[in-house]
Amino acid sequence: MSARPRVYVTRHLPGGTLDVLRAQCELEVWEGDDPPPSQRLREGAARAHGILTLLTDRIDSALLGAAPNLVVVSNMATGFDNIDVEAASRHSVLVTRTPGVLSQTTADLAFGLILAAARRIVEADRYVRNGRWKSWGPEVLLGGDVHGATVGIVGMGGIGSEMAKRARGFGMRIVYSGPSPKPALERRYRMMYLPLESLLREADFVSLHAPLTADTRHLINEDSLRLMKHSAVLINTARGPLVDQGALYRALKEGWIGAASLDVTDPEPMSPNDPLLTLDNIVVTPHIASASVATRSRMALLAAEQLLQGLCGETPEFAVNREILAAWRRRVREGLP
Ligand code: DGY
Repeated sequence: MSARPRVYVTRHLPGGTLDVLRAQCELEVWEGDDPPPSQRLREGAARAHGILTLLTDRIDSALLGAAPNLVVVSNMATGFDNIDVEAASRHSVLVTRTPGVLSQTTADLAFGLILAAARRIVEADRYVRNGRWKSWGPEVLLGGDVHGATVGIVGMGGIGSEMAKRARGFGMRIVYSGPSPKPALERRYRMMYLPLESLLREADFVSLHAPLTADTRHLINEDSLRLMKHSAVLINTARGPLVDQGALYRALKEGWIGAASLDVTDPEPMSPNDPLLTLDNIVVTPHIASASVATRSRMALLAAEQLLQGLCGETPEFAVNREILAAWRRRVREGLP
């Protein structure tokens, strides 16, 4: 790799990350508040040896094909469904991500969304602001208890296990599903592995923590919503397309389930005219689960570290397409224009 590699970053980043990159690279930063339009993103990538991307940046085969010098795409996110990893591998471009550092912060928000839905916190705030609070009333804004309820955690990775830790503290019964049981975590959090269908039938709160793949798209659909309790709450802090939102609208409107809290939607951003927003039994936040000052800084710095390691031909810890490491390393070591 040439002495100072060229790096394109698709947004201004927190935590002094840009200074870290500037010290070692020729840096170009997209300064808009919104993501770069696809043509600008493609042009930036075409000039770069490495790009630092966000989940809003679509890295597809056309972009990768038009970026002859590109060797690393470092995504500042745990998820990487915005990147065509197969195409990246075909072009010997290494893809990296930032898992771990956001698990606790994301679980904090997911738990907040459980509480918000169960105890109708957002609705209660609207009630006060709209001047409807006349007196304390024995039947005003009654909700469901969180303690003692059953939480169903779908996906027992880093964020799922942080959910289990929080649920244990709240005295909840915990069931979980995923590709395979995790016996050590099961013992630690005293939880039970169930097939998804049984989890949906048993849980009072169903919290999604699975990646978006071809297999998990619309994991929650009409059939699965109809399996859930009429009082159940669905929480999604993972990826919007895990849920069929048309089916969710009918489920909430017709009372198949009790409520939902979404931090992620399909598409993003959600239109202010989305029918879901006409309902009182849903809370929607704008994909902020990892949005604490400290965590976003850690994510940005980790993404920069992965990028810099990759540009030097060192294997980044969180490389996604590790099967191309040998070909990729040869490409970096040969040195690029
Ligand atoms: C991720 O990391 O995938 C989140 O959705 C963004 O924090």
